[in-house]
Amino acid sequence: MNIMVTGSEGQLGSEFRAMACAYPQWNFFFFSHNDLDISEEVRVDEAIQKCRCDVVVNCAAFTSVDGAEADPAKSFRVNRDGAGALARCAKERGVFLVHFSTYNVFDGLSPMPYRETDKASSHGLNAQAKLAGEDLIRTIAPSFLIIRAGWLYSPFGENFVKTMLRLGRERDSLDVVSDRIGSPAYAADMVDAVLTILAKADPGKTYAATYHYANEGVCSWYDFAIAIMKLANLPCHILPIESSSFTVKGPRAFYSVLNNNSIKRDWGLDIPYWHDSLSKAVERILMLS
Ligand SMILES: NC(=O)c1ccc[n+]([C@@H]2O[C@H](COP(=O)([O-])OP(=O)(O)OC[C@H]3O[C@@H](n4cnc5c(N)ncnc54)[C@H](OP(=O)(O)O)[C@@H]3O)[C@@H](O)[C@H]2O)c1
Repeated sequence: MNIMVTGSEGQLGSEFRAMACAYPQWNFFFFSHNDLDISEEVRVDEAIQKCRCDVVVNCAAFTSVDGAEADPAKSFRVNRDGAGALARCAKERGVFLVHFSTYNVFDGLSPMPYRETDKASSHGLNAQAKLAGEDLIRTIAPSFLIIRAGWLYSPFGENFVKTMLRLGRERDSLDVVSDRIGSPAYAADMVDAVLTILAKADPGKTYAATYHYANEGVCSWYDFAIAIMKLANLPCHILPIESSSFTVKGPRAFYSVLNNNSIKRDWGLDIPYWHDSLSKAVERILMLS
């Protein structure tokens, strides 16, 4: 199987790179943003043909919630138009497309974990661009999986865990919001799940599924920060605050917990508890730093 990974220098793309060696039977082709802009359809098509690729895993995205409010055109160009270009090329060349989306497509008002069938209705521009991208993939791609992730983190790129570890070394105390609840998603676990799915998928079948993926369990950003400090043995004191005490440009959901049951049931996956995965990730990040 020939697998092309776009956005290969981001958090998720880097985890695919790190894990590819565990699958020596497959050929991986990694494309960073510099190598390939997913919104340039002709170039995407050329790359797919050159790799004789069977699967495209799209890790390319514009992920900044505040950045999308400041520059919506950029977010729509990558998250909607890039997804559309990939979907059309996947159709033209008969390629299986794996695409990622976000917990942020929900408004955060649900009293219980979001299922794939729940109505996505975020007012944020980044989420609207991601939803438009999802819709194009569902409409155009002949065979696809869309995986909406929870609070993503990894040893690569920028994320909450790495920010907390840095600030925890620099400061005696930190204010962290305690009224926003979600489920962390360790990128290594999600990549492992995707590669397991690709190994189990029947190449003769077509797929058209949207899944949710996050680690098991829930926490607030405050709980998450406390766990990070404890695991890293940092003495920094975490103070709970309400999100109304500071302003951000883009909307943030109060409740972002994803129901994982579909992906577990359809592919026989065991998903680790968030604290167990965080413990592995913190150890790995500290080793790499
Ligand atoms: N980060 C989160 O908290 C989070 C949460 C839930 C879901 N997700 C989803 O998970 C997926 C992966 O996110 P991530 O955290 O790995 O993102 P990331 O670290 O920001 O990586 C995204 C990569 O895409 C590249 N990129 C941007 N525009 C591109 C374009 N037009 N063509 C090709 N590459 C482009 C970026 O390059 P540059 O850096 O050069 O722009 C970057 O290397 C995304 O679909 C995202 O929506 C993320």
